[in-house]
Amino acid sequence: MPSYKTDRPFADRKLRNMDITHNPNTTLFKDQNEPSYAIPDFITDKERLELLDFWNDNFDTVGEIINDHIYRITYPMLFEKISDIIRPKIYEHFGDDIVFYSDIAKNDPMSVGDQMFKAVQPYGLHTDSVTHLDGYRPYKDIIIPLLIDGPGTYVTFNQRYRGHATMFMNGRDISSYANYHNIVKIQRYKDYGVENIDETNPDHDKLEMIMPRHIPLSVYDGLSIESIFLWQHCNAIVQDTSVLHAPTEFKGSKIGLTLHLMKRDESYKNSISGYYTPWSRHTIPIKKLK
Ligand SMILES: [Fe+2]
Repeated sequence: MPSYKTDRPFADRKLRNMDITHNPNTTLFKDQNEPSYAIPDFITDKERLELLDFWNDNFDTVGEIINDHIYRITYPMLFEKISDIIRPKIYEHFGDDIVFYSDIAKNDPMSVGDQMFKAVQPYGLHTDSVTHLDGYRPYKDIIIPLLIDGPGTYVTFNQRYRGHATMFMNGRDISSYANYHNIVKIQRYKDYGVENIDETNPDHDKLEMIMPRHIPLSVYDGLSIESIFLWQHCNAIVQDTSVLHAPTEFKGSKIGLTLHLMKRDESYKNSISGYYTPWSRHTIPIKKLK
C-alpha cells in the first residue's frame, strides 16, 4: 500500500509556537445540542467479522499509510461490502436524509472524512467537523469499534466547538501540523470559541488516571467529562460533531470505522477558493513516499 507524508508549509521550529488555522470561523453551524450516546449492538458480531475481513483482505491494495501512524481505507461507504452492512442501519437509525461524506466528497484533493482505520497510538483531544462542503451541513460523527486487543474507553466532554475540525493542544510542546484539522495551543480554549468552559476542572483527577500518558493534563484545562463510553466491539458511539472528544489510554492497536454524517442545506456555504484545497490556504499535496 502506498505511504504518504504530509508536506508541511512551515518549519518544525515555527510550528512549535504557532496555531494552525485552516478556518478561523467559530460559528460554522449553530445547531447540535444533543447528548452523546452509544447504540449497543449496532452491528452483529458476524457483521463485525465481515468488516474485519474486508480490512484484512483489502488494506494492502486500497489502504494507505500517512506519516507512519495513520493506517486507513478512505471513502469506506463506496465499497459494496461495507455499504451493504452499514448504510441501511444508518438510514434506519438517523433517517434517510443523512448524507455520507464518502458519497459527496469525491472532488476533495485528499480524503478528510469517513474512514476505516487502524490506530496504533491514542489520538489527542479534538473535534472532526467537516465544514467545507457547500450545500452540506456537518451533523454527527459515528464510530464503530471493530477490534481492540484489550480494554479501551472513549471520552466525550461537555465542551463544544462549532468551528472546523480542531486539535486542542494546550501545553503540548510539539510541532504538529494536520492537513485538515486546525491546531490550537497558544490561547485558552475559551478564546478560540469553545463553549461551556468549566475553569474549576472538576474531572482532572479522573482524567489523570485514564487519559493517554504521553499527553499532558494541561490539554484538558477548562473541560469536564460528559460521558465515558466503552470502546466495545459492535457498539456505535454517536456524538454531535461539535463535541470535544478523545480516546483514553490503550495498548496495542484498534481498528474501527468512523463516519461523518452530513445533512443537505442549500444555505450552507463555507468552502474557500483559490488554493489547493477548498478548506485551507495552507494545505498542499501530500508527498508519496513509495
Ligand atoms: Fe474523532
